[in-house]
Amino acid sequence: MTDIKACIFDLDGVIVDTAVYHYKAWKRLANELGFDFTEEQNEHLKGVSRVRSLQLILGWGGVTKTEAEQEELATRKNTWYVEMINQMTPAEILPGALEFLEACRADSLKTALGSASKNSMTILNKVGIAQLFDTIVDGNHVSAPKPDPEVFLKGAEALGVSPTECVVFEDAIAGVQAAKNGGMKAVGIGSVQTLTQADLVISGLNEMSLAKLKEL
Ligand code: G6P
Ligand code: MG
Repeated sequence: MTDIKACIFDLDGVIVDTAVYHYKAWKRLANELGFDFTEEQNEHLKGVSRVRSLQLILGWGGVTKTEAEQEELATRKNTWYVEMINQMTPAEILPGALEFLEACRADSLKTALGSASKNSMTILNKVGIAQLFDTIVDGNHVSAPKPDPEVFLKGAEALGVSPTECVVFEDAIAGVQAAKNGGMKAVGIGSVQTLTQADLVISGLNEMSLAKLKEL
């Protein structure tokens, strides 16, 4: 049992179900390029930066593009994605997320967002929960993508806590690895089969409680 002082939350697939919108937009792009990819392959895109995701997808389709073409394709995907997230409402906050964030704050635990997304502020403002985070670290502030722990270490630093005092909530394989690489506890949101490195796996934040947090 550790003295937990802070919770760091990934955004897509943990707080809101934007993982579905990322999937839809990437699938549309792949289909336009004449191929498709599986849901299992999609698991490897979670937590992965926009540029790297595109490179993985092009690789799966056996398609080669110049850097300029890649930039255009990534922008095209992001335009579709932004169209979808601009329609979001507070109803799209995943079950239990609001309640758990509020419980953490009521218990004097610090909260941070640690996301690879450059669209995180748009999403937080759309669903109205930006004020529930003491600090926000996202794709605009980091240079090394998950599984590098930079995003979470920056969050811990901004909160003034040490990595061992943090628990990270993540739905991505790369995100769980990033937390472990940073010396933090990781709670996986998803399946035990996929998130093998997590200290605890739950299906959603509605299954989380302060009691479970303190047992980690
Ligand atoms: C999150 C998602 C990824 C996404 C990445 C970048 O980590 O899980 O699927 O590619 O953010 O998001 P962005 O909104 O900047 O394209
Ligand atoms: Mg995620």
